Amino acid sequence: MLVEEKTSLAEEIESLVKAHGNNRSALLPILHKIQKKHRYISDYAQQEIARHLKIHPVEVHSVISFYAFLNSKPKGRNIVRICRTISCKMKGKVAIEKAIERELGIKIGETTKDNKFTVEYANCLGLCDVAPAMSINDQVYTSLTPEKAIHLLTQVK
Ligand code: FES
Repeated sequence: MLVEEKTSLAEEIESLVKAHGNNRSALLPILHKIQKKHRYISDYAQQEIARHLKIHPVEVHSVISFYAFLNSKPKGRNIVRICRTISCKMKGKVAIEKAIERELGIKIGETTKDNKFTVEYANCLGLCDVAPAMSINDQVYTSLTPEKAIHLLTQVK
């Protein structure tokens, strides 16, 4: 991270702390704002937030790890989540996963080089009766086949 980037991030965090206060309850709202703007919360941002709130950086990191919508690493512009729970597993999730990995040239948990996609696992998406399911950003797709899953990926800008 460049010095200028660090300075502007530090200023941003300082103004968020001014707006939300510097006690522990400010942690989640501050993380939310940083995540929203930068799409992840860098190690440097975590240290700065911890310093302002007078908590250990490990605590900040564990909150980020707990919530799926907070990331400590940069992610792709589109998040694909493949359901790995039992109904989807029994209905062919592995074939879908393999097809997606092959199509994008990455493994689950990784981001494509062009930052277009990050692929992750999800737990039950609540649509077991029409398994297998996956989501692309906020949209959930069901009754997938490997072909349908790949077709959906090609529709994403
Ligand atoms: S197990 Fe996949 S949607 Fe429920």
